[in-house]
Amino acid sequence: FEVEYHDTIPSTNDRARELADEGREDVVVLADEQTGGRGRLDRAWTAPSGGIWLSILLRPTVPPADAPAFTLAAAVATTRAAREAGVDAAIKWPNDVLVADGDGGQRKLTGILTEMEGEADRVSWVVVGIGINANVDAADLVDGATSLRAENGDVNRRVFTQRVLEEFHELRSNLDSVVPAWRDLADTLGRRVRVDTPGGEVVGEAVDIEFPGTLVVETDDGTVRVSAGDCEHLR
Ligand code: BTN
Repeated sequence: FEVEYHDTIPSTNDRARELADEGREDVVVLADEQTGGRGRLDRAWTAPSGGIWLSILLRPTVPPADAPAFTLAAAVATTRAAREAGVDAAIKWPNDVLVADGDGGQRKLTGILTEMEGEADRVSWVVVGIGINANVDAADLVDGATSLRAENGDVNRRVFTQRVLEEFHELRSNLDSVVPAWRDLADTLGRRVRVDTPGGEVVGEAVDIEFPGTLVVETDDGTVRVSAGDCEHLR
């Protein structure tokens, strides 16, 4: 990847989308601070100086339906890098990287926002935005968030980012490897969950995940497959 670095920028995802419009590919936009960071579901994303805020612009030759696999790959890559850095992170479906707070709860270390444009049969571009709360104080983040600093001290951001990009590159080169890798690092499977989906609420036990990132939930009314939504761990 070619890396474009900014000390401060509104949003690395917005910048990567601009580069997509210019016809670029395999570019990573990286920033120390974002002033207009965006999260899923139109939420804002707090991104103070000291974090790792990055967006990867790709032009993969896959159908749009496979795109969720890139989001999962980003979660796997980040979780592996966090574990190497001594932080016991795990993935909550589909793509939040969480750390147990020691009190039965979980705090969010990383969020991922994937955006794409495509035609019916082929993706035109994908932007995978990864926000890693790295060398920042948890007090400067939203409630329920944690940081690498808070968990195990500051990291070398250059080395950490490199690890994430290496892992991501390997996974995206073999998309079939993503789901098994995700399963190994997931915290959602086996739990009772409530998923807010565009089609309504699904409550039950999360039993598996299927390519490209579909959650399989056993509910009182039978097996339900969920491809998108906001997931809450009930226990
Ligand atoms: C979420 O959990 O809601 C997703 C958060 C995604 C944040 C990252 S930070 C880098 C990239 N640029 C953005 O504006 N958002 C993503």
